[in-house]
Amino acid sequence: MTAHENCACDAPGPKSAEELLREHEAQLGELLAEVEEEERDREDGGVSLHLAGLDLDRRDFMKAGMAVGATSALAGCSGLGGGGANGNGGGSASSHTHVVAPGDHDEYYGFWSGGHSGEIRIVGVPSMRELMRIPVFQPEGARGYGHDDQTSQMLDEAGGYAWGDSHHPILSETGGTYDGRWLFINDKSAGRMARIDLKYFETDAITNIPNMQACHGCAVQSPDTKYVYGVGEFRVPVPNDGSLDPDDPEGYWSTFAALDPESMDVAWQVRVTGNLDNADSSKDGKWAFATGYNKEEAFEIEEMTHDDRDYLKAFDVEAIEAALDAGQAEEVGGVPVLDGREGSPLNSGSDPIVHYIPVPKSPHGCDVEPTGTYVTASGKLSPTVSIIEIDQIKEVDDPADAVVGQPKVGLGPLHTTWDDRGNAYTTIFIDSQVTKWNVETAVNSPMNSEDAVLGKVDVHYNPGHLQAAEAETTSPAGDWLVSLNKLSKDRFLPVGPIHPDNDQLIYIGEDAENETGGMELVADEPVYPEPHDCVIAHRDKVSPAVVWDRADYEGEKEFVTDDTARIDRPEDGRVHIYATTKRSEYLPREYRVTEGDEVTFTVTNIESSRDIIHGFAFPKYGINLAVAPQDTREVTFTADEAGLYWIYCTYFCSALHLEMRSRFIVEPQQ
Ligand code: CUA
Repeated sequence: MTAHENCACDAPGPKSAEELLREHEAQLGELLAEVEEEERDREDGGVSLHLAGLDLDRRDFMKAGMAVGATSALAGCSGLGGGGANGNGGGSASSHTHVVAPGDHDEYYGFWSGGHSGEIRIVGVPSMRELMRIPVFQPEGARGYGHDDQTSQMLDEAGGYAWGDSHHPILSETGGTYDGRWLFINDKSAGRMARIDLKYFETDAITNIPNMQACHGCAVQSPDTKYVYGVGEFRVPVPNDGSLDPDDPEGYWSTFAALDPESMDVAWQVRVTGNLDNADSSKDGKWAFATGYNKEEAFEIEEMTHDDRDYLKAFDVEAIEAALDAGQAEEVGGVPVLDGREGSPLNSGSDPIVHYIPVPKSPHGCDVEPTGTYVTASGKLSPTVSIIEIDQIKEVDDPADAVVGQPKVGLGPLHTTWDDRGNAYTTIFIDSQVTKWNVETAVNSPMNSEDAVLGKVDVHYNPGHLQAAEAETTSPAGDWLVSLNKLSKDRFLPVGPIHPDNDQLIYIGEDAENETGGMELVADEPVYPEPHDCVIAHRDKVSPAVVWDRADYEGEKEFVTDDTARIDRPEDGRVHIYATTKRSEYLPREYRVTEGDEVTFTVTNIESSRDIIHGFAFPKYGINLAVAPQDTREVTFTADEAGLYWIYCTYFCSALHLEMRSRFIVEPQQ
């Protein structure tokens, strides 16, 4: 439909507002029907590339890659034709396009943390287009998060903090792969853990974890998400009420917490020696791992980094559960805590609950590889990655003997991710590179050798986390990898002294005997401060609802209809308004209350067409609800000042969107 067909400029005479509106609605209805049709067509095939004699889906095509020289048949996409075989040098054109044509969908959902923006971002991979943001730890206006009663109460009960610091998004798993049910995200700022419901892409639970200030590491128990692990980084006095001597490190705690994913309650905690950092879980669920620095238990950086070795801590989940069953936990802060410190009774026998495995100083990254044979720990201050054979942890007399490999990968190795061919990819913070190395070669080579290194690619600059598609599952995809670089420096137009980060997309679908080992830098993506990590899932594993199912809130909130829209006054000083929204009006049309009344609005969007969202903005009380089709939101406030206030719609929903507003009249007390 062209713009011309769409306009009413050839109309013989002026039309009434009602006629115009009817036409507009009819056109919109047609458009929506078309969209639904396309969606149905899309469901079976995905993005197919019909090349002469070939019928490959995009992923097969990428894997076949340059071998058939077919990429040029795709011409028209940018970034082709440079022909440079590797991405080093920071500016060469890639032969692998990441362009997703207008109207096509990405193959992967990327879930990015937002750091101290306190949110989660949804990014399409490989296009790197940001699709949506999900506010988590702080209120946000566009989605009305923290504005309605339910979400503002959730934020209050989780401590009422003004902001959060999200780091390590992780997807729930069933059978060792992402099941599309939940995303979990830690808050380093306040020791919280949040859950996002992936049916509605909304935060639906936040737990304020006791005995912990900074929840840093975040992992789920593989393969079936019996627990969500939250890892306490900063050591804090427990109880933290001023009763303990702040200069005595004995009273300081760092704890490893396991939460029940359904209730989001803390199931148990283990107190450790030193502190904790990043976390992962063995593929069979029997072990949880966390790196940690500061085994010195010091307060100043010089002392924290004093010793040559620090620990990877291996938590024996079965031993922990047995100790809990045997009543060996102490209740602290309302949760059962086991003492897993070095030398504690629970940690002294032949079956300790925590194994302390020495690795070079200040390890940070903690990653279990896809077969579940090894867990890696990378020291920020050592150029190596330590490879620990998980089955050896209980077998060896000296915990250090569980370390079976230690490839030298570069200066400042942080995090490691995986492909489907036995290779590992580690970010090298100081060198600003990603190093590709082979896991089995590393295990079979001398410690501290570079024998396993297959290649390095420059990234720009100072990478923190990196993540490859499906890399937390037992079967990584092995095609795309994203390096989340902390600094962008000169890569983009300057935007003032606070710079964006730079997420770089790297194609890893091929192995090659060149400088990069086949890795190819494909795209730069400037990002708002400051993602730390991401997790990338195939789109087949995530199926969000496109409108609300009212059955999901039946019994909690009334689904208001035009017939039941009303103003109730259950008692003096209380007004409950049941309202509907649709294009382009609220019902009831206007609201009269008395100064001092406590007012509750229950607002239902009775539309059923996808993407017809209505806003419900009441600036006087800091309220902006975003009510999606078939959803109901509630908000309560006290009408404490007489006057007239317009409630208006903030989503551009129709031709008469501007007119979609209602009077809220607060009459003075008699
Ligand atoms: Cu409803 Cu704009």
